[in-house]
Amino acid sequence: MDEEKIIICRCEDLTLKDIREAISQGCTTLEEIKRVTRCGMGPCQGRTCLPLVAAELSRATGRGIEEILPCTVRPPLMPLKMGTIAGAEDG
Ligand code: FES
Repeated sequence: MDEEKIIICRCEDLTLKDIREAISQGCTTLEEIKRVTRCGMGPCQGRTCLPLVAAELSRATGRGIEEILPCTVRPPLMPLKMGTIAGAEDG
C-alpha cells in the first residue's frame, strides 16, 4: 500500500510518509517526531498514533519498542467553552 495513503495520526492528518520523512531527517525519538510533525499532539494525545510511530521508529532504527515508547503522555483534552471555564453556564 502507498505510504502516502496510510494515515498514522488522524488528529493531525499525518501519513506514514510524513513519519518516515521525519525519521530520515534525523528524528530518533518519539519526542523529536512529535516536535517536528505534531504527531501525538491532537485531541487524543497520541493514544492511537504514538504506538504506531514507535513501531515505525523501532523498525527504522533497530531499537526495541520498549526503548522507544516511554515519553510524556498527557490526559486527553476536549474543547471547552470559555463560559464553561468561567462558570457562566452554571448561572
Ligand atoms: S491520532 Fe495522533 S494525536 Fe490523535
